[in-house]
Amino acid sequence: MSGEFTAPKGVPDYFPPASADFLTVRNALTDAAHRAGYGHIELPIFEDTALFARGVGESTDVVSKEMYTFADRGGRTVTLRPEGTAGVMRAVIQHGLDRGQLPVKVCYSGPFFRYERPQAGRYRQLQQVGVEAIGVDDPALDAEVIAVADEGYRRLGLSGYRLELTSLGDDTCRPQYREVLQEFLLGLDLDEATRERARLNPLRVLDDKRPEVKEMTAGAPLMIDHLSESAREHFAAVGKHLDQLGVKYELNPRLVRGLDYYTKTTFEFVHDGLGAQSGIGGGGRYDGLMKQIGGKQDLSGIGFGIGVDRTVLALAAEDVSVAGQGRVQVYGVPLGADAKDELVAVAGRLREHGISVDLAYGDRGLKGAMKAADRSGARLALVLGANELAERTVEVKDLATGEQSSIALDEVVADLSARLA
Ligand code: HAM
Repeated sequence: MSGEFTAPKGVPDYFPPASADFLTVRNALTDAAHRAGYGHIELPIFEDTALFARGVGESTDVVSKEMYTFADRGGRTVTLRPEGTAGVMRAVIQHGLDRGQLPVKVCYSGPFFRYERPQAGRYRQLQQVGVEAIGVDDPALDAEVIAVADEGYRRLGLSGYRLELTSLGDDTCRPQYREVLQEFLLGLDLDEATRERARLNPLRVLDDKRPEVKEMTAGAPLMIDHLSESAREHFAAVGKHLDQLGVKYELNPRLVRGLDYYTKTTFEFVHDGLGAQSGIGGGGRYDGLMKQIGGKQDLSGIGFGIGVDRTVLALAAEDVSVAGQGRVQVYGVPLGADAKDELVAVAGRLREHGISVDLAYGDRGLKGAMKAADRSGARLALVLGANELAERTVEVKDLATGEQSSIALDEVVADLSARLA
């Protein structure tokens, strides 16, 4: 470690060249959402603490242990957003979007904050791309949301993940199931804190990671066996539409998400190359959330959040390279002061024509400058020395093949545009 300051624990920096992978992943995921009609939404980084407490659920780890909450100078209690769904719902209600065309389909990306114990793939500032579709309760929309995430991953070249799917029921069957589960749990030999959790929020106990608790709850009754007729039909239709969309999935009736608002369709994308932090994305339906945070209507919603950091790690685990965006296409190597003057102007012209260019600044020698060209990830190097300049030509070197040719300086824009097309 050098320097007096370091970033806060668990907060990553994103810098070149790896930041190019990060951008490529984030853009591929948001592009998939835009192709399905999700419009960009930009939300506050902090909101009223009560929004998350009520929206996400008091008994979740996210709310009870992980929120970055502080009083601002006006004495209001605010929280750095731990997730995006509650904020989207708040914006929809506040701006009356729920009275316009439905569903409201939006996509967001950016940082979220959770005070978790940092480890590989688990950060205190994490990056997500998410979508939400609010106002229409149609299983085809559930399938669309899931397919958007799946398409984003596939376009990036990711393949070693699976989609786990279940239904958490609705308000016509959840309360009854809750009682059945509670009765089962309170009949077990659980410690007092876990018994309290079973009383408050029995589903959370099924998410307990301790082996002894897992063993005891192995035979617990499952929501999927207690669905109402309508919830069962909805779930069957989601499966049918996923088949139509060519999205493969596995049923996991023990799937429990870390947030309380889920109803009906619930899912998680899991990657086995990541160790303990295997969830690369997840989401589901949240039909009671609007009411929960004070909406006058009670519109349904469905969405996902994908972890951008974990998706980058998953691609690396599969040895898939996504580098591209953020790297320059052309690297200029001027040899001498006159050549530099010329190449500075050439770089400007190329950029005006949409070609990305960097130069070897600092008057380096040929060897050092060519090394820098290789490291830049550029496809082509433009090498200009005194001889070429006298002849009004420039050497173009393909950095992958090593092939070299001489072109006229006047034709540099047309020539490079054609090569890079
Ligand atoms: P979530 O499952 O809590 O869902 O987070 C979504 C994704 O964010 C996770 O699958 C994971 O990839 C990533 N993630 C979460 N915590 C961390 C962390 N500490 N470090 C790195 N990555 C992390 C939600 O947030 C819901 N709002 C998703 C949703 C949208 N449901 C409906 N609509």
